Amino acid sequence: MRYRMTVIGSGYLGITHAACMAELGHEVLALDIDADRIRRLGAGQLPIHEAGLEALLRRGLDSGKLRFTTSYQEAAEFGDVHFLCLGTPQQQGAYAADVSQLDAAVGALAPHLGRECLVVGKSTVPVGTAERLAGALRRLAPAGDRVDLAWNPEFLREGFAVKDTLGPDRIVLGLRTASAEKVLREVYAPLGDVPFVVTDFATAELVKVAANSFLATKISYINAMAEVCEAAGADVVRLAEALSYDDRIGGRFLRPGLGFGGGCLPKDIRAFMARADELGAGPALSFLREVDAVNLRRRDRTVDLARDLAGGSFAGRRVTVLGAAFKPDSDDIRDSPALHVAAEIQRQGGRVSVYDPVALDNARKACPELSYATSATEAARGAHVLLLLTEWREFVRLDPAELGAVVAVRHVLDGRHALDPARWRQAGWRYRAPGRP
Ligand code: UGA
Repeated sequence: MRYRMTVIGSGYLGITHAACMAELGHEVLALDIDADRIRRLGAGQLPIHEAGLEALLRRGLDSGKLRFTTSYQEAAEFGDVHFLCLGTPQQQGAYAADVSQLDAAVGALAPHLGRECLVVGKSTVPVGTAERLAGALRRLAPAGDRVDLAWNPEFLREGFAVKDTLGPDRIVLGLRTASAEKVLREVYAPLGDVPFVVTDFATAELVKVAANSFLATKISYINAMAEVCEAAGADVVRLAEALSYDDRIGGRFLRPGLGFGGGCLPKDIRAFMARADELGAGPALSFLREVDAVNLRRRDRTVDLARDLAGGSFAGRRVTVLGAAFKPDSDDIRDSPALHVAAEIQRQGGRVSVYDPVALDNARKACPELSYATSATEAARGAHVLLLLTEWREFVRLDPAELGAVVAVRHVLDGRHALDPARWRQAGWRYRAPGRP
């Protein structure tokens, strides 16, 4: 069964979901209130860097299965299923999530919903949001009770968004009616054999933040071990490797280094703490405060190590930062540990030159005070310290001898444990990495 569906919100999640649903054969109308973004998407131009997504976007446009609009009325008339894919960033000056985009979208869509349909929330939200939005839809939609709601959290990773959407580990559905379950099982049927977890609204909402909190905890766990290794003169990379052979622990998300950033993990653990506090369950999540603190300390530690390598002060020192994106294969610089460190070094008097394969435009807008280079070699020219802060493949493959010829001093800090220390040392570099002797 192929559906006529809309995707409300054409950001990272929305564009990916819309293009993938069109790929599955559904007829998709994607909406955003940003007219310029919609015009560009309609012309096949992707506003983000995401492997494989542009090809899917073009295929959807060419087949006519994927279209774009700014009109809520058109969306309401077209769709039998409406996916909500709005951003829920951290509130200014608070830990809680800002759900105003989601509220505005429901407020704009509902008055046009004149017939039976299913609204499906995919955004990451504070538990209780679905219940509240179900009430708003009932109140505001002319079709009233015939507008059903389901919650279907999204688990895609940036850099693997298409792969994760077309080959998900699981599909979680929070819903209240058999018809909502039937529709969503049919929507996702072309994905083949995927485990479904069908549950209530609150559980579905919680699964998402519980998953991201677990991942954040795993990363901060190994980074806490890195702190202890530093104090004890031990090697956190070997330690992580040894832990990873235990199936119960596993090696994924156990990579020590500069820690996590991006538009999801940091804000999700904070919003989760804020919501648990409101519910009177704050103590259950007090460990997430430590997870956050360990993570932020990694950034300070990286700056301290870089300062040591620069001879105790950044004053007058040229510092090369390789990487601006919060992780490789993405141009996303939201809460990027790499940019955070670069900005702090500049603030402490360093002359920082940053290079990233795809995130330079975004970085320039966010941190105009830094200098930017168009290649790793250019960024490294005359450097007193070289920092690898995002482990792009291009950086892992750099030739230390070639780079050694352009820097002033061969000092490298590997913030992601991505380089081969022996290779760099052989080429005459002083190699340092947090958590390693
Ligand atoms: C994360 C989750 O992994 C997705 O499952 C989730 O759907 C998504 O958030 C979301 O909420 O939308 P993402 O933000 O794309 O995905 O990035 P991750 O791959 O989780 O990486 C997050 C950060 O952790 C990066 O800065 C990365 O460098 C860091 N990281 C990751 C480590 O420092 N060590 C590791 O071992 C793994």
